[in-house]
Amino acid sequence: MPQLASFDLSSRFSTLATTTAKLEVQLGRLRLRNPILVASGTFGYAREMAAFVDFAKIGGIIPKTITPVGRIGNPPPRTVETASGMLNSIGLDNDGLDTFITKHIPYLTSLAAPAFANIAGRTIEEYAEMARRLDEFPQLAGLELNISCPNVTGGVDFGTNPESAEKVVRSVREACSLPVVAKLTPNVTDITAVAKAAAAGGADAVSLVNTFQGMAINWRKRKPVLGNVLGGLSGPAIKPLALRCVYQVAKAVDIPIIGIGGISTIDDVMEFLVAGASAVQIGTANFYNPGVSARLVDELAAILAAEDCSDIHEIIGSIHRPPATGC
Ligand code: FUM
Repeated sequence: MPQLASFDLSSRFSTLATTTAKLEVQLGRLRLRNPILVASGTFGYAREMAAFVDFAKIGGIIPKTITPVGRIGNPPPRTVETASGMLNSIGLDNDGLDTFITKHIPYLTSLAAPAFANIAGRTIEEYAEMARRLDEFPQLAGLELNISCPNVTGGVDFGTNPESAEKVVRSVREACSLPVVAKLTPNVTDITAVAKAAAAGGADAVSLVNTFQGMAINWRKRKPVLGNVLGGLSGPAIKPLALRCVYQVAKAVDIPIIGIGGISTIDDVMEFLVAGASAVQIGTANFYNPGVSARLVDELAAILAAEDCSDIHEIIGSIHRPPATGC
């Protein structure tokens, strides 16, 4: 395995908040100025959001998943709003690794926020090969491994099986010295088993959860609404489910957790931190309020001051665990 370097990006990208509370968080080898990141698939390659977001505020940017070669994605319709959240089945539409390297990395790494790459392959070798090529860009904050996309054949398989999750994480770790975050699916019986496997494979952190598989039906036409029939549900509806996953994984692994799932308010952020997440990603909320992540950084600073906290670590994992009951 390559030598483990530490990636302290907290001083290169320091928080511009008017607070004395320390917002810096450690995600394995990676140190970030604050714990508010934006989630893959909801922020394009950041260019699309430049007019709306103060990049100098947020903790990190995770762009859309890239694959070894470009994909046109799934047939439309690819998104639908339900009564309680959004379903998507984009199918990993992206330009591919070469274009990411030539066009997107130079832009992403010029921004005032740490930028990750988010990668997906069809085989373990593809993940490793992508990691090997991205290792040439130490200006990236890290790699998030999408082993949890519910909308492509094969995509979610690595994340539903602990053994393959461990293998894919290990192969990336051996191929690359950047910090590695494994993004987990909730569409499993026991997410803690997959989180433990990712940790055993050498992940610096796990991010959870990706979307919950669901569907929408136009009953009058007797047809599924999405072109790909099934999709992934995100937004406020999944927050309690995601929070449960973070709580369970926090008890099961020692590596840091990045919480994802329906986060749009500062209370949501605090709930995930108290449950055990060291950082969070804002996803679906970016679609209707692109500036929400920067605003949440300010609100986080304010709420910590109001709570008399001098360091965010006083909040992370601070939930009081009731004694186990039941039969
Ligand atoms: O369909 C999609 O591109 C979704 C990706 C994901 O949820 O990871």
